[in-house]
Amino acid sequence: MQKKYEGIIKQAAAEHKLERDEIITLLSCDGPALEFLFAAADQVRKTFMGDAVHLRGLIEFSSYCQRNCTYCGLRENNKTLSRYRLDAEEILTIARAAVPLGYKTVVLQSGEDSYYSAEMIAVITCRLKEELSLAVTLSLGERAKEDYRLWREAGADRYLLKHETSDAELYGALHPDMDWGNRKKSLYTLRELGYQVGSGCMVGLPGQTLTSLAADLLLFKELDVEMAGIGPFIPNPNTPLASAQRGTVELTLKMIAIARLLMPQTHLPATTALGSIDSKGRQKALVAGANVVMPNITPNKYRRLYEIYPNKICLDDNPAHCRNCIGGIISSLGRTVAESAGHSPKEQFTLGLG
Ligand code: SAM
Ligand code: SF4
Ligand code: FES
Repeated sequence: MQKKYEGIIKQAAAEHKLERDEIITLLSCDGPALEFLFAAADQVRKTFMGDAVHLRGLIEFSSYCQRNCTYCGLRENNKTLSRYRLDAEEILTIARAAVPLGYKTVVLQSGEDSYYSAEMIAVITCRLKEELSLAVTLSLGERAKEDYRLWREAGADRYLLKHETSDAELYGALHPDMDWGNRKKSLYTLRELGYQVGSGCMVGLPGQTLTSLAADLLLFKELDVEMAGIGPFIPNPNTPLASAQRGTVELTLKMIAIARLLMPQTHLPATTALGSIDSKGRQKALVAGANVVMPNITPNKYRRLYEIYPNKICLDDNPAHCRNCIGGIISSLGRTVAESAGHSPKEQFTLGLG
């Protein structure tokens, strides 16, 4: 193995710092150096986060979206998709069924759908906390600061808003009706309001460079995120990016591994998108730095309608089946399913939390 890779990896594993050019070098490594990178990330994960894998039950509660992100099947201009919305009782019923399956966190995710007023989401959040004692992650896209504040006051613990790409020009091209500055500002607003902040990026977007991927990792570090969701871009035939190349498993795994070296205490999911382009994708991520999985707990009849990208896994499976499947994957790796809520291990989030 070339000494240059080994030296950078060892230093990053010890100090959790990398310069932009060092990240670019690591993103280009292969062969024994790549294996060394994954092993180092796995060791950092073990030391700082332990062997327990946190499960977050994902409820995809509305496929309506007012945005037009050029990569996403939920974009408003995709008229081929039948849309659905779940009401508060349906969401509560799904969450109730998740508790006996061992879920301690639910993630409420949707397109940007103003049908749900801030008050409606606050009431649902409050009931999830009070009736079921679940940790609640929200992922509804960009909303007004007052909405974020209300939800936080209602008890929402975490918010997931991926920055998608830190390349402002590429961000502008991919998001015709959105603004990069606003995205970043929203992430800082969530931080200010005391959320555990989750960001994330896609890997392999058309026009994306290794330099911009390195900047994505440095942005996670700058934001000091509690979670970073890193997944491959998968072209959707019903979007303007239909004929683009998809991101690769290898580059996505490198991004996860480097993220782990840089951020030893950040939750890193083995993403569904990675599992959708490689049947062993989530297993590979779990041994390259990841420590979280987000199984889908949305009822069967809606899963096909939340078609962000094609060939998403688990479309014909129900929540109990997915829970069994993921439990099997985790134990086959010699790991365990976490019994706690899996809040960020940073001190400000663990004091008084379960
Ligand atoms: N609307 C909210 C938002 O955009 O933050 C949450 C729902 S959105 C469907 C969740 C994530 O899906 C996005 O953050 C994006 O990274 C991912 N996504 C959308 N289209 C994708 C694609 N074609 N390939 C991979 N990931 C995709
Ligand atoms: Fe809507 Fe989110 Fe998809 Fe963009 S990524 S079109 S905001 S659901
Ligand atoms: Fe859904 Fe494996 S996690 S079938």
